[in-house]
Amino acid sequence: MRDFETPRRRQAQTKAHSPPHVMLELRMFTTLIQSTLVTISSPYPHCLAIEVLTTQSDNNKYYGLISMYIYYALGFLVLLLVVSIALYLISARSYESSDTVANSYDEWTQDGILEFYWGEHLHLGHYGSPPQRKDFFQAKADFVHEMVKWGGLDKLPPKTTVLDVGCGIGGSSRILAKDYGFEVTGITISPKQVQRATELTSQGVTAKFQVDDALALSFPDNSFDVVWSIEAGPHMPDKAKYASEMMRVLKPGGILVVADWNQRDDRALPLNFWEKPVMRQLLDQWSHPAFSSIEGFSELIAETGLVTGEVVTADWTQETLPSWLDSIWQGIVRPQGLIEFGFSGFIKSLREVPTMLLMRIGFGAGLCRFGMFRALKSDSVAQSRETARSQVIKA
Ligand SMILES: C[S@@+](CC[C@H](N)C(=O)[O-])C[C@H]1O[C@@H](n2cnc3c(N)ncnc32)[C@H](O)[C@@H]1O
Repeated sequence: MRDFETPRRRQAQTKAHSPPHVMLELRMFTTLIQSTLVTISSPYPHCLAIEVLTTQSDNNKYYGLISMYIYYALGFLVLLLVVSIALYLISARSYESSDTVANSYDEWTQDGILEFYWGEHLHLGHYGSPPQRKDFFQAKADFVHEMVKWGGLDKLPPKTTVLDVGCGIGGSSRILAKDYGFEVTGITISPKQVQRATELTSQGVTAKFQVDDALALSFPDNSFDVVWSIEAGPHMPDKAKYASEMMRVLKPGGILVVADWNQRDDRALPLNFWEKPVMRQLLDQWSHPAFSSIEGFSELIAETGLVTGEVVTADWTQETLPSWLDSIWQGIVRPQGLIEFGFSGFIKSLREVPTMLLMRIGFGAGLCRFGMFRALKSDSVAQSRETARSQVIKA
């Protein structure tokens, strides 16, 4: 008897034999990938691609091959990531002594990469309050002028003597000399930075540079009208000594103005499970023994016993925050660095990217804070002892 195919029976048969919806999509997807691979690798791409597509009905044997390629690619990417992270961690430049810092800056100065991407200012930029879009290098120069204003230095006459502690290659020192007429002495622990700062300073600019240790300054007491420091503090293993040395060389009535990376005050709120390892990298990658907190460092300044009135502090985290992503962006918009510094330069620059990202995360999430400090040196020791326990106020 003839087996009539009723619509219902046909429907049932189709249901039983057709692959599930997901399998169908996977099959179409792998077909596409397969034909693309063949197209790319063949000298006669069009013919081969068409051939693959038309003989697709019996190509199950290729599915395994395609999945294998995908697994290999994924495996390779995971391996690359693991190796990169391991190299990043192994090659950290942890702080051991001031020699570690000096060597790191000597190296960074000699290869020229840091100067190429960061310019003559090795500090963050000031993007306004609230922050606005700005040229990276302009923001750095603006930072110096904002700090001058905040510190009240714009009211001081030309020939005011300034000590720039941890001067880098002299970016701030030159602005203080050229734009405000100050007589600036920049000190750094790195001999190569002194050499480069001197090269960059034209004759007639009243800024000079020398190697010195911020923790054992070679100047007598009461030497300078102003002591100025930007982002050198995180390299200091003894923050109390850093504060007392700066206050010691300041003349009575002189002004201390400091800008620094800090961490949140962990006496009030301890670092949590993710903040601890992030902080470890922020310290180890760039030769920092420890970060102070804004509260902790202002107390150390007050405890020198040399301050009159209050230690004034401010938090410039928001004003400086865009600097981190802008620093990374420099590597993209200035590819000529690739030609100038070659493949090794590219790798060196690339290895700094995770640290900059971690900095951005740290400052953005409240783990780190950008602290500003201002203090006036007392006229006499007796007066300062009285105010040593003075209140620290926030500007
Ligand atoms: C992040 S750079 C900032 C440089 C400069 N203030 C600027 O803003 O361009 C830190 C500087 O601190 C200096 N430094 C670190 N430890 C020091 C120490 N113990 N004595 C003197 N300088 C030190 C480094 O050599 C480097 O110049």
